[in-house]
Amino acid sequence: MNALALVITGWDAGPWEKRFRAAAPGRDIRVWPDRLGDPGSVAYAAVWLPPAGAFGALPNLRAIFSLGAGVDAVLADRSLPQVPIVRVVDPHLMRRMTEYVTLHVLMHHRRQRLYDAQQRVRLWHEHPQPRAGEVNVGIMGLGVLGRDAAEVLVRLGFRVAGWSRSPRQLPGVETFHGTAGLEAFLARTEILVCLLPHTPATDGLIDLALLRKLKRDGALGGAFLINAGRGKLQVDADIAAALDAGTLAGATLDVFPVEPLAAASPLWLHPKVTITPHNSAASVPEEVVAYIVRQIERFEAGQGLENVIDRASGY
Ligand code: NDP
Ligand code: OXD
Repeated sequence: MNALALVITGWDAGPWEKRFRAAAPGRDIRVWPDRLGDPGSVAYAAVWLPPAGAFGALPNLRAIFSLGAGVDAVLADRSLPQVPIVRVVDPHLMRRMTEYVTLHVLMHHRRQRLYDAQQRVRLWHEHPQPRAGEVNVGIMGLGVLGRDAAEVLVRLGFRVAGWSRSPRQLPGVETFHGTAGLEAFLARTEILVCLLPHTPATDGLIDLALLRKLKRDGALGGAFLINAGRGKLQVDADIAAALDAGTLAGATLDVFPVEPLAAASPLWLHPKVTITPHNSAASVPEEVVAYIVRQIERFEAGQGLENVIDRASGY
């Protein structure tokens, strides 16, 4: 009884299984779909992109652990049982995301793509460089990841604002919230960083209409987008159109509505786009397994689970 099943697609389940066996040697570890064993003895599922209906086959499930911070793929399953769903909140993952956001904010701020292009033609030419303190960065999503990135960008001297669903306060950060706060947030933002979850309320939010509301006449002379949240927040064709029209001066995209990004996508070779393969803040088995094993131990000792998501809000 109380077996743990790994239900993983899109990633290699091997390193996860190995790590769970090492971290919880007494636990009965099963691997979906071939080594699930008796489904009635599975109490916990550790999952990434679980296929629809996978949980319906597990009648005695007590908790679901997402192997990532985002839970949109778990919640997409209509047959999801009424058990707690725990997401990853981990300082290493958080710092990885902050590194990514900082790297790409600085890349756009310091015009690194332009200097890369100049290097290819052996051009030695310096451009005017605004101070960080003249540049407005706006972070959509002031959760675990958005708050840490904001703190570091404030330390670098940027003018940082954040947008969330409910009112939030953060030292040195101008905050906006809800639909009512969105226009003003966008109007002052030159580098838009998206760290939102994908929910019905955020689906397709980053479209042409939204991108047109960004500030283009600031110190950077254009607007930039960095999306490391979820691909379904963005409309790819609208981003390409915004780049071509000059609405956007550049974009960094780590996530896409369909992953991997199709080879035929014009975004791949767009001169103003930087693409990474959904790796801005990877889940590392050593870190995440330790967190999940600790949570199960707490749960079985009668203590509460941490970082249980609120199903009603979808994150
Ligand atoms: P949190 O749940 O801690 O924070 C989510 C933030 O988004 C909160 O500030 C929340 O507002 C805000 N938000 C949610 N819905 C809305 C809305 N409708 N309007 C305005 N704001 C909204 O999540 P994390 O910071 O831990 O992670 C954010 C997302 O990053 C994950 O859901 C995941 O999709 C993505 N991610 C991507 C990774 C990658 O490798 N590309 C890695 C890890 C995560 P409020 O504060 O009011 O609740
Ligand atoms: C996550 C991710 O949600 O890696 O953690 O996308």
